[in-house]
Amino acid sequence: MTISDIQQQFPILQRQINGKRLVYLDNAATSQKPICVLDSIQKYYENYNANVHRGIHTLSREATELMESTRECIRECIHAKHAHEIIFTKGTTDALNLIAFGIEPLLQAGDEIIVSQLEHHSNIVPWQMLAERIGAKIVMLPFDENCELNMSEFKHILNERTKLVCVNQVSNALGVVNPIQEIIALSHQYNALVVIDGAQAVPHIPVHVGELDADFYCFSGHKMYAPTGVGILYGKEALLEQMRPYQGGGEMIKEVSFSGTSYAGLPFKFEAGTPNIEANIALKSAVDFIQNIGYETISAHEHNLLTNLTEKLSEIDEITIYAQYAKQRSGAVSFNVNLAGVHASDVGLILDKQGIAVRTGHHCTQPIMQQLGVNGTIRASFGVYNSVEDIDALIQGLKLSITMLG
Ligand code: ALA
Repeated sequence: MTISDIQQQFPILQRQINGKRLVYLDNAATSQKPICVLDSIQKYYENYNANVHRGIHTLSREATELMESTRECIRECIHAKHAHEIIFTKGTTDALNLIAFGIEPLLQAGDEIIVSQLEHHSNIVPWQMLAERIGAKIVMLPFDENCELNMSEFKHILNERTKLVCVNQVSNALGVVNPIQEIIALSHQYNALVVIDGAQAVPHIPVHVGELDADFYCFSGHKMYAPTGVGILYGKEALLEQMRPYQGGGEMIKEVSFSGTSYAGLPFKFEAGTPNIEANIALKSAVDFIQNIGYETISAHEHNLLTNLTEKLSEIDEITIYAQYAKQRSGAVSFNVNLAGVHASDVGLILDKQGIAVRTGHHCTQPIMQQLGVNGTIRASFGVYNSVEDIDALIQGLKLSITMLG
């Protein structure tokens, strides 16, 4: 399959923005959707629309079967042992909040939660809220001058009071790939549980939760070509069993009476209320789309784009690239134009006039920006449909921005 074949599958890429071809480089925020995903939503409403797990009638059984086949498809994709270890959520943020709430009874005052400095706010704030509720302590794992996690500091701060370690596999702001295998192995030596935010990993690189021995692994559908409003929490069965439910309501119960309620088993204990059925079903089409191309092809292609963009950016004197020397990067390049009084968003607006979509600002990672000493950065992030022509358009747009703002 050529890049042009892949691009043909994304109707939105035919759009003109400000009279220019759309160059979409904001995939870390959300990816565009292929025809197979759009078709799956339409087919669902035209043929199967019904509530799941509730009806004896044909439509309900068919909708349930389709949704459950996504659960199995995700299990297989990330190599989890059991389908009931896969919980449907609204997204990564929802999944992380579910863990932070559900695990609370297993923690106590004085426990320590290590959170990396490279995290998205969604993998910081829920832990701060949990720590506040129970009197636990948040310990920050800093990153170094290469924007890589300081692993000797990690070994230093890890101790028998550490109960949780929270880290992303790939940084959304910088594209740095973290050594999660090593982090998990070290944490387990102290019986600390590890929560991985995999939102920026699953769209780009193969994930094997079993080999990683991850305790929890969360990601979003909408960054991997599926609709918004669906995410996945993977958790080890024994841990999910011990956690309290996040929300009460229909579906998550075994029996309800005014003398008390007993909860359903996994995964339903964590799935109160009517889910985002069409998105959950369409997520399978998105995974099929990824697997038809193949993770190997996707990651090799996106790595070429990352290297190509980094090389071209380094030839421009006015540009500073962040995390340029990190050993492993994936999916995104973050940089700034160093001109007095120029903010990343000024450049973003000029790029938009050229039809180029990038994200500018703090990328929901203010602690990273504080450490780098900047208000924000410009971030170009890749999807499988991006091409070297997209990179060249971005470079042209940046050169124009520098001329206009200089
Ligand atoms: N987490 C998304 C991003 O990095 C929204 O842009």
